[in-house]
Amino acid sequence: MPAGGRTITELVGNTPLLRIHLFEERFPDVEVYAKAEWFNPGGSVKDRAALAMIEDGERRGLLTHDRVIVDSTSGNTGIAYALLGAAKGYRVRLVMPSNVSDERKQLVAAYGAEVVFSDGMEGSDGAIRMVREMIAAEPDCYFYPDQYNNPANALAHYNGTGREILQQTGGRVTHFVAGLGTTGSFVGTARRLKEHDPTIQAIAVQPDDAFHGLEGLKHLPTSIVPGIWDPALADENLGAPTEPSYVLARRLARSEGILVGHSCGAVLWAIEKLAATIERGVVVTIFPDGGDRYLSTGLYRRA
Ligand SMILES: Cc1ncc(COP(=O)(O)O)c(C=O)c1O
Repeated sequence: MPAGGRTITELVGNTPLLRIHLFEERFPDVEVYAKAEWFNPGGSVKDRAALAMIEDGERRGLLTHDRVIVDSTSGNTGIAYALLGAAKGYRVRLVMPSNVSDERKQLVAAYGAEVVFSDGMEGSDGAIRMVREMIAAEPDCYFYPDQYNNPANALAHYNGTGREILQQTGGRVTHFVAGLGTTGSFVGTARRLKEHDPTIQAIAVQPDDAFHGLEGLKHLPTSIVPGIWDPALADENLGAPTEPSYVLARRLARSEGILVGHSCGAVLWAIEKLAATIERGVVVTIFPDGGDRYLSTGLYRRA
């Protein structure tokens, strides 16, 4: 450790790999592991992508201290930008629909980010439009990481998450399961794993319906498809239903003491399906964030 301690940005990545026992009784020869991404300083997997995009912008000279980091996210990426902006001395401006939860607004404001509200009725598309208008009006004022189309997002996982999984399993991983949002974590990690061993199977998980309650995940058939998405990397695509995903998240909390977010329930649902079709294997997934972030949604209110 360097004299004077570590900086918060150095704590991004190198998350623990947890053994998950939920399906062990039914499928004793299927080992399940999960990357516990809430151990990142901003509490989610998005710290990795945000840091990689910011550092890529710095290297290219696109992000300088006279520019403001701008994006239209109310979720984990916004929290990551706000934290990293504060740590690195950049101003951060986040456009959010006016109806996002008070928890979100307070969290990014706590890191000193400026929040601009777009019309709540226009949802996330309205926020994206507002960011584009702001950039068009003052193009030299802003750095726009554009996580859906920025290759540095997936590269964060190619260089980080994928490499760590190979190290932490001693290369024993046979199946990789992850949810799709921007698709960065699935694409970057699957690419790294398949480069190491092309027989590793990658299973992509989306909500099973456009109207879902799996925060952080996208139903691609009814969404704008991210520019970084590479469908060739997915050996299988599974559609997770909302309520059964919630049930698995609750079971995990009660039986293993691991409190996770909505999208972790969805990957658990997919792993249970997968485990029933394979006799043995070493399955690794990503748990993008923890459950305390979702208490107000009622995820853990029911038995
Ligand atoms: C809670 C949660 N789960 C899953 C994802 C999906 O990750 P990615 O954007 O890398 O596809 C995200 C991304 O925002 C998220 O916030």
